[in-house]
Amino acid sequence: MVLPPHRSSRPLADPMDSRTVSSRQSAPHPRLVEVVRRHLASPSRAPVPAHTRQAFERVAAHIAIDPARPIEIDSGCGTGASTRALAIAHPDAWVIGIDRSAARLERGPLAAPASMPPNLLLVRAEAAAFWRLACVAGWRLRRHWLLYPNPWPKPEHLMRRWHGHPAFADLLALGGEIRLRTNWRVYAEEFALALGVASLEETIGPVVAGNAHVSPFEAKYAASGHALFEVSAAIG
Ligand SMILES: C[S@@+](CC[C@H](N)C(=O)[O-])C[C@H]1O[C@@H](n2cnc3c(N)ncnc32)[C@H](O)[C@@H]1O
Repeated sequence: MVLPPHRSSRPLADPMDSRTVSSRQSAPHPRLVEVVRRHLASPSRAPVPAHTRQAFERVAAHIAIDPARPIEIDSGCGTGASTRALAIAHPDAWVIGIDRSAARLERGPLAAPASMPPNLLLVRAEAAAFWRLACVAGWRLRRHWLLYPNPWPKPEHLMRRWHGHPAFADLLALGGEIRLRTNWRVYAEEFALALGVASLEETIGPVVAGNAHVSPFEAKYAASGHALFEVSAAIG
């Protein structure tokens, strides 16, 4: 299915370099536990952007044609190349790719609609707001991919990382098997700690991808010799 992204007038920033993450932080943020506890105790009340509401409504209407299918989300999917590969690998599921960048989405499978499997949906949306709407609609996911999220390496940006974000509670409420990958060890350690604060059992380890890379950023980082980490947790 092709869902046209909204055009953005902003130029496309190019984060596609392969330097390792540089940060003043070499260990989990000292305020991580306090911040996660606070966000788990009080749900996110941020306003939902109109374009994200419209994107969610289009997706919800589309998947309603076969509501028995499991749902997988690829949040921050970039071009959607990973989402397309996941949709092909999991034909029984609706596989939804969400990215805030229209410019990036336009460079991926949306540019070649004939290459898109019928269970693939790609939309421009703010992930946190999309999660909020999905929670309110009662969605439960089979799997949630968070592939190489922006690291926000400055310590003062802890609350922009997914585990420090007010939307972390919604991410957990959507359930399913969470798979987060990153090339910053501290991000992986923090994400694992945050899952622990929520009393969830997690696994943290290296990504052993060989030549089969799940996403363009993974391929780029692997080609540059970065260590890659995966944190996973199954939420019942
Ligand atoms: C480092 S790239 C990784 C892209 C892709 N997952 C991959 O591994 O190749 C991070 C992506 O997350 C998207 N992103 C960052 N914050 C977002 C948000 N709040 N909502 C939706 N997408 C977001 C960016 O636009 C970017 O495409």
